[in-house]
Amino acid sequence: MDFNLSKEYIMLQRMYQEFAETEVKPLAEEVDETEEFPVETVKKLARYGFMGIPFPKENGGEGGDVLAYAMAVEELSKVCATTGVIVSAHTSLCATPIYEFGTPAQKEKYLVPLAKGEKLGAFGLTEANAGTDASSQQTTADLEGDEYVLNGSKIFITNAGYADTYVVMAMTDKTKGNKGISAFIVEKDTPGFTIGKKEAKMGIRGSATCELIFENCRIPKDNLLGTEGKGFRIAMQTLDGGRIGIASQALGIAAGALAETVHYVKERKQFGKPIAAFQNTQFQLADMNTKVEAARLLVYKAAFCKQNKMPYSKEAAMAKLYAAEVAMEVTTKAVQLHGGYGYTREYPVERMMRDAKITEIYEGTSEVQKMVIAAHLLK
Ligand code: CAA
Repeated sequence: MDFNLSKEYIMLQRMYQEFAETEVKPLAEEVDETEEFPVETVKKLARYGFMGIPFPKENGGEGGDVLAYAMAVEELSKVCATTGVIVSAHTSLCATPIYEFGTPAQKEKYLVPLAKGEKLGAFGLTEANAGTDASSQQTTADLEGDEYVLNGSKIFITNAGYADTYVVMAMTDKTKGNKGISAFIVEKDTPGFTIGKKEAKMGIRGSATCELIFENCRIPKDNLLGTEGKGFRIAMQTLDGGRIGIASQALGIAAGALAETVHYVKERKQFGKPIAAFQNTQFQLADMNTKVEAARLLVYKAAFCKQNKMPYSKEAAMAKLYAAEVAMEVTTKAVQLHGGYGYTREYPVERMMRDAKITEIYEGTSEVQKMVIAAHLLK
């Protein structure tokens, strides 16, 4: 057992921190206020190698690993959860399934530009009637000659509209239930593929969350990811990894809110002394710090397990469940300790509390994480 980060990880962490502080933090309030996707930041993220951290260099990546990637999402999310989820959805949900299930030709064509950050990725699973019940897919993909023809729609898709490459699930055989689902790579601007309604959200307001619409959208047969009928398994395995990304985002939000609060309580004076001198403040901070650290251990452990090809589905679910709960609790306490000021948009903890909520919902609600954990425990 060694709980110390190696020199290499510490150096990476510093680099991620510096980028987040100088390039991301100054824009976080504006991104939230305007609900505008941070296009320029994403270009900079690409230049600094944030878009392909865990992929080998021969696939266009940075040759890093899952822990380095988790740390990057954590550092970005400390200052801007919108930026954290853009990187997480791109890396975990689009580039990773192509890396893990793609043919050499698919990797060359799609993974390399994604990992280099030349292209942005997204993932289409959720539908109006297939949220938690992900196997109830209604989007269809029918093979006609050398093409699949996609019909249907997806909702709540992160990075939609800005992404170039979409990993999309659709039914190739409705009679087979979840074993009739297949995964496809769909390029933006394919005729018959359009972006629908953009959601107005409580938090992560700069991240684009839209509907995908497929109307007789023809894609080459070669864009089938894996084999026919493997789509549900691919989606579930992809989400196991995605949950490490969202757990890292939740951890970052909580750690960011804690840092803001530590700073604030030393400055803010009441009854003639900084509120940091009051025992209630100290006890709250102690609880917050302990929970952030416990969440970090779960997140890093899940990343370690995935990296080392150990089972990690349960570990990822536990990390996401706990880190999301901690993000909600710590940001709520942070607002409370900031008092009236914390409720205003003058201080970032208000945004952090709104951003935290989604981590209990997307990539599987907290209840779904409990289902996954219990299923592993009882099998
Ligand atoms: N890895 C590999 N295979 C898996 C698996 C996994 N993690 N989980 C399930 N499977 C396999 C099972 O082994 C089973 O295979 P067999 O039929 O051969 O035995 C098959 O898949 C079906 O499994 P279940 O019976 O457990 O499936 P279910 O229909 O009962 O669903 C569930 C289980 C946990 C509720 C699952 O549907 C789920 O995770 N739902 C939540 C979906 C979700 O997270 N959506 C998020 C959308 S993406 C998003 O939010 C992204 C964004 O843009 C940010």
